Amino acid sequence: MASLVVVGLQWGDEGKGKVVDILAGFADLVVRFQGGANAGHTLKVEGEEVVTHLVPSGVLHPGKRCAIGPAVVLDPEQLLLEVDVLQAKGRLSEPDSLMVSNRAHVVMPYHKQLDGAREQASGSAKIGTTLRGIGPCLEDKMSRSGIRVCDLMDSDLLTERVTSRLAEVNALLAHYGSDAVKADELLHLLRAQADRLRPFIGDVGELVRTELSRGRPVLFEGAQGVMLDVDHGTYPFVTSSNTVAGAVCAGLGLAPGRLSSVMGVAKAYSTRVGEGPFPTEMGDERGIRLQKAGGEVGATTGRPRRCGWLDLAALRYAVSVGGCTSLCLTKLDVLSGLGPLKVAVAYELDGERIESMPADAMLYRRIKPVYEELEGWDETLGEVRELSDLPAPVRRYLDFVSNFVNVPVAMVSVGPSRSETIMVQNPFRNR
Ligand code: GDP
Ligand code: IMO
Ligand code: MG
Repeated sequence: MASLVVVGLQWGDEGKGKVVDILAGFADLVVRFQGGANAGHTLKVEGEEVVTHLVPSGVLHPGKRCAIGPAVVLDPEQLLLEVDVLQAKGRLSEPDSLMVSNRAHVVMPYHKQLDGAREQASGSAKIGTTLRGIGPCLEDKMSRSGIRVCDLMDSDLLTERVTSRLAEVNALLAHYGSDAVKADELLHLLRAQADRLRPFIGDVGELVRTELSRGRPVLFEGAQGVMLDVDHGTYPFVTSSNTVAGAVCAGLGLAPGRLSSVMGVAKAYSTRVGEGPFPTEMGDERGIRLQKAGGEVGATTGRPRRCGWLDLAALRYAVSVGGCTSLCLTKLDVLSGLGPLKVAVAYELDGERIESMPADAMLYRRIKPVYEELEGWDETLGEVRELSDLPAPVRRYLDFVSNFVNVPVAMVSVGPSRSETIMVQNPFRNR
């Protein structure tokens, strides 16, 4: 049995999509297990660029199956948009190449409307969400008023559930001064989407359990990153799901022992989109240089990403929460020519050194990172394919990170394309 979970270790956008695209080559099935269309993954393969939000990043491998699990919140409009784009490119042509869980909760237009209305009403206290309706949809799931993919398939039940839900939703929208939703218009839209979704729908938990029992390698694709986890991240400036590897088990209905390895993906520096604590954020012109060099613009919202030094204190925490058996460091090429490189190894709170992550987001205003400085490099790295061919300061940077978090580096990414990768060891076999 081989299963590998890939999770982001920072604030998202670590390059998980690229990593999953490569690792999909070793798997039979690639499964998204949490989050929703708040995710944005850019894949570059043989000159072609594809951006996915819901479709798993294994989609560019012909003959591999992809699945969207029960704990993913599914926006039918976004999924169908991606399916159209991929099919126009000659992808997803096999009927069973994508399965969508019948248990997944549906992101309704009113979830997106509420997300936007709340953010606007919050003013300077806003979270800076992706406005994809993630929070409101997951609230409905937890309060047991959500509408699931299986409900879309039963027209009478759908009418009943939507009509009853809209009573409260429209009162909430009115509270924010937002337009009421008309039941007949929404139902018309949902029925049309349901017809198109029907061929993709199935029991994804069952599919995964069966594949694992048959000894087939399964790859689980995480979205966001550990620091955005609703329980373990910088609450309330987080997303509304668990982003840690453990979420695979609850999300898909798998016993914990069925996961053999976890790869954590981290950028060689840090970025964050949206509001919230970011201890190593660069306030200077180097941050802007990094943003330009790394193309740090959100794939989902087009917002510039905030940039900062690598935060090893946060990374060590994320590794321990995520239980990583291997590490992939991405975007090392972006650091070329930046001069000496700072890495945060701890924080100072009111003059005292702390090694753990504060629970209270407000405390982050008072903490200062404790930095060590490592030698930088000027060489371009995009052509390097072997660890031993990397310039010595790059290898020392990698070793420093790996030793600090006590996890071996299994992959290094030196450019956005599939080929710009150094494979150190197969992370499927790394326990
Ligand atoms: P994800 O959300 O974790 O999948 O990451 P995104 O796709 O949102 O953001 C990562 C961005 O960096 C994308 O534009 C990738 O094409 C790009 N990228 C990934 N790895 C590398 C790398 O090693 N070097 C460079 N320069 N770009 C990379
Ligand atoms: P990928 O998978 C980066 C951030 C938002 C916001 C917070 C809450 O591409 O790494 P939400 O819409 O989830 O309610 O927003 O979480 N966020 C991400 N940041 N990458 C992502 O996904 C993100 N998904 C959500 O910017 O700060
Ligand atoms: Mg992203």
